[in-house]
Amino acid sequence: MRMGPALGKPRKGEKLAVLLPGMGAVATTAIAGVAAVRRKLADPVGSLTQLGHLQDGAVEHGPLLRDVLPLASLDDLVFGGWDPIPDDAYRAAVRANVLRREHLDPVREDLEPIRPMTAVFDREWVRRLDGPNVKTGTLREKAEALVTDIRSFLERNGCTRGVMVWTGSTEVYAEVGAAHLDPKAFEAALDRNDPTIAPSMIYAWAAIRAGVPFLNGAPNLSADIPALRELAEQRGVVTGGKDFKTGQTLMKTTIAPMLRARLLGLDGWFSTNILGNRDGEVLDDADSFKTKEVSKKSVLDQILSPREHPELYGQIDHKVTIHYYPPRGDNKEGWDAIDLFGWLGYPMQIKVNFQCRDSILAAPIVLDLAILGDLAQRAGEKGPQEWLSFFFKSPVTLPGRAAIHDLFQQQALLQAQLRKYADRAAANTQSAVG
Ligand SMILES: NC(=O)c1ccc[n+]([C@@H]2O[C@H](COP(=O)([O-])OP(=O)(O)OC[C@H]3O[C@@H](n4cnc5c(N)ncnc54)[C@H](O)[C@@H]3O)[C@@H](O)[C@H]2O)c1
Repeated sequence: MRMGPALGKPRKGEKLAVLLPGMGAVATTAIAGVAAVRRKLADPVGSLTQLGHLQDGAVEHGPLLRDVLPLASLDDLVFGGWDPIPDDAYRAAVRANVLRREHLDPVREDLEPIRPMTAVFDREWVRRLDGPNVKTGTLREKAEALVTDIRSFLERNGCTRGVMVWTGSTEVYAEVGAAHLDPKAFEAALDRNDPTIAPSMIYAWAAIRAGVPFLNGAPNLSADIPALRELAEQRGVVTGGKDFKTGQTLMKTTIAPMLRARLLGLDGWFSTNILGNRDGEVLDDADSFKTKEVSKKSVLDQILSPREHPELYGQIDHKVTIHYYPPRGDNKEGWDAIDLFGWLGYPMQIKVNFQCRDSILAAPIVLDLAILGDLAQRAGEKGPQEWLSFFFKSPVTLPGRAAIHDLFQQQALLQAQLRKYADRAAANTQSAVG
């Protein structure tokens, strides 16, 4: 059986740089959480790589993933990032107000040295924010400066590898245009300061140029444009996205498969959210919300497949709104009113009220994506990693392939890939022993 190149464990002490453009609520909650886990002050709740098992057909509880996969260890992660707001990770975490001081103060000395590098930032793309910690020059100069940042960060911190997870704001809505069609057009657009090149695309370009996987936690196009797909393919770099699947969409993609499995019909699904963090403020801008709305609305059609079942799902009224409501901070509240119907068309309702904590749900995903993105890169993968769909609201696929949204199908896909890696790692160990 062909298994692909050897997949050995990183040597102990071999450092992995986890580079986060956007050091706000999600990023600092992830960094502080990893520091707390390293110091044995907390368990990594919600993290697949830290607590998950390999599921293997009949075996209900397979081995722990971290025992059978050659994953980077938490002790070997070095965090860095960029932000237009110059606060170090401790101040940014205090300001984000997700974790309480009793959890932040014990890791203060781990967070304070993490200071954001100067960002590639443009208020045309994120209108509700501003900050002085930014790069100047042409887009080409800024892009090259990011590549230099990545290389010098790796060198300074003795890292042999890096991985970038976009934890920055949601940018205004954009569609693929002429400047995004191939690497040459993209670079020419950088040279002429083309306004259709978003900052998140520049980070993705720089990551790919530096041979660092790029995983996208926001719904921004970023690496999901033909130019960067081609560049990632040419350079053999892993990509993945988009938009962390955390609160309401996580619920939606678990309930909708149940409706489909039991062939219950659906008239409408009304989803609304209130949140008061900085992300909520950014999403209060109609053009940034549009990017999010497209990401949130795409899931039902694929799961329910109205073409196959027009009598059940042909006329769904699906609405999604987000309201910026400062008193709620990061503790988002999501309501879903689901109008379904059963035998002989009799109507029923399900109400979901998820009082979640946005960054608490997103932080373990940042960690898992960094560790699994690095694993995929070492395994010789390149381009969009569909098996990572499990973590995303709008999974990026190879051209012509439909995204899978059903959480359980996504989990099966993820587990199948992890089993392949575990087999390769085991074969590698055996051949080393033999
Ligand atoms: N928390 C969740 O559950 C969740 C789920 C899905 C997606 N997301 C996405 O994750 C992202 C981060 O969310 P958050 O709650 O941490 O938001 P946040 O506003 O607290 O942090 C975002 C940070 O990104 C910075 N930023 C903006 N543009 C930048 C640029 N060009 N370069 C570098 N930094 C930049 C901002 O200054 C800010 O500090 C958002 O796009 C959000 O939509 C979050």
